Amino acid sequence: MIQRIAIGLCLFMLALPGAQAQQPIRIGIIMPYSGQFADTGAQVDGGIKLYMKQMGDVVAGHKIEIIRRDVGGAAPDVAKRLAQELVVRDKVDILAGFVLTPNALAAADVSAEAKKLMVIMNAGTSIITTRSPYSTRTSITLPQAAETLAQWAYASGVRKSYTMVSDYGPGIDADQMFQRRFKGAGGEIIGSVRFPVANPDFAVFAQRAKDLNPESIFLFMPAGTQPVAFAKAMNDAGLNPQKTRMLGTGDLTSESALKALGDLSLGIVTAWNYDYQQTTPLNTAFVKAYNELQGRNPDFLSVGGYDGMHLIYEAIKKTNGDTSGDALIAAVKGMRWESPRGPIYIDPETRDIVQTIYIRRVEKSGSGHANVTIDKIEAVKDPVLAAMKH
Ligand code: PHB
Repeated sequence: MIQRIAIGLCLFMLALPGAQAQQPIRIGIIMPYSGQFADTGAQVDGGIKLYMKQMGDVVAGHKIEIIRRDVGGAAPDVAKRLAQELVVRDKVDILAGFVLTPNALAAADVSAEAKKLMVIMNAGTSIITTRSPYSTRTSITLPQAAETLAQWAYASGVRKSYTMVSDYGPGIDADQMFQRRFKGAGGEIIGSVRFPVANPDFAVFAQRAKDLNPESIFLFMPAGTQPVAFAKAMNDAGLNPQKTRMLGTGDLTSESALKALGDLSLGIVTAWNYDYQQTTPLNTAFVKAYNELQGRNPDFLSVGGYDGMHLIYEAIKKTNGDTSGDALIAAVKGMRWESPRGPIYIDPETRDIVQTIYIRRVEKSGSGHANVTIDKIEAVKDPVLAAMKH
């Protein structure tokens, strides 16, 4: 009798989710939720929220808890402190988010030291993922886009270019790779300028560009409020994409920028990984669901957040809830899936993303404007990391 009770009790306990299985898995998200980059944080968050709405908040028996922290802007010291607090005090298992490179670099030290998976959902400077062996990226690197654009520009007849970029990680990365590939193809760079990431006075830079009267201009500045301020300053100086070929990364013509720019955006050519007007069935469904939840269209930031959550969910399933950095990063390496942007995978060598890069031109579409795809290159790896590996 006692034996039967004991067996019954054991079976009963087995049927219960064990103490461990009940442990929540905590994800600490560090992003700008205020200041000039607040909208970028909101768009990444839209992707995170939509994924969790669609897939639920329990994975491999564990409840997923999200803890959000506002880093305000490009503030690496704050990002580092927040990452430390999230790990030590809030006991997060995973660090994620990261719109801005300086913040991602600072938090990568914490990821490396604490052996926590770090999922970069936007920041695009190549070397970030070399700073922690537990880091991976679901967005894009600027060199992925700049390389593709430089080659396309030369092939489509552009021979001279002037480069104008933000003077920090992603801008420098974009500038260097654009120049290397454009000159490598036979093009000439007639000059370049870098503006500060905090409060740039675009009027001065626009006037200098106007005086040079270049055949084309290559541009990078972070998404948020800057692309619109920049395009207006260029237009005031008498430069526009109809007279001067404007080439840029897709941050320049994101969903919110296009809306604000109106006709000023017409003719801008960008290289990027996503646009909400892509017409695949998966993307159409994604855009519809995103609109239902957020009341607006998604952009590349939203897709970075959405795919970042997919990566986290699938990794947790593969490790059956083991959240050690070693187990999770092993599960991430080589992961492949179909994103709203198209097929993507995580390069097992670099832990960075491999994806299709689209070349798009802004055209009128209905009552608004759209990034219309004119070319695409599949399975593009980050060229900086690829060169480091060989
Ligand atoms: C970055 O800081 O890495 C960054 C920020 C905004 C972008 C792209 C890259 O649009």
